Amino acid sequence: MTTINVFMAAHHKQCDNLFAAAEASIAAGDWDNGVTQWQEFAAELETHFAREESILFPQFEAATGSMGGPTQMMRMEHEQMRSLVNEINKAVDSKDKDQFPGLSETLMITMQQHNMKEEQMLYPMIDQSLPDTAEIIAQMSQQK
Ligand SMILES: [Fe+2]
Ligand SMILES: [Fe+2]
Repeated sequence: MTTINVFMAAHHKQCDNLFAAAEASIAAGDWDNGVTQWQEFAAELETHFAREESILFPQFEAATGSMGGPTQMMRMEHEQMRSLVNEINKAVDSKDKDQFPGLSETLMITMQQHNMKEEQMLYPMIDQSLPDTAEIIAQMSQQK
C-alpha cells in the first residue's frame, strides 16, 4: 500500500525535476524552452500546494483536531514560495538573466527545507493519524 509520504515525496521529486530543467535551460540562455519549462514547474507546484491545502491538510486537521500546528506553518511557507514564484514569473517574462539566478536559488533552498519537514515529520504523522490513506491519495490524484 502506498503511503501519503511515498506518494507526496514522489510529487516533490517531480516538481524538483521540472524546476531543474527550467533552471538549466535559462542558465544556458535557452529562454524558449526555459519559459515553457518554468511554466510547467509553476503549474505543478501549485497543483501540489492545492493537494495539500484543500485535501490533505484539512483531513488531517479534522482527524486530529489540530488547526494551529504544523499544517499552519506549512501553509505560511506555501505563501512565501508563491510570492517567490511570482517574483520569478516577472523575471522570466522579461527574460531577466540577472534576477533569475538569485531568486531561483532562494526558492530552491526554501522548497528543499519545506519538503524535508513534510517528508520527515508531517507526512509520517499524517500516515499514522488517518485510517484510509488510499482514499486521500485517490482524491489528491484528481486534484489539478
Ligand atoms: Fe507543502
Ligand atoms: Fe509537499
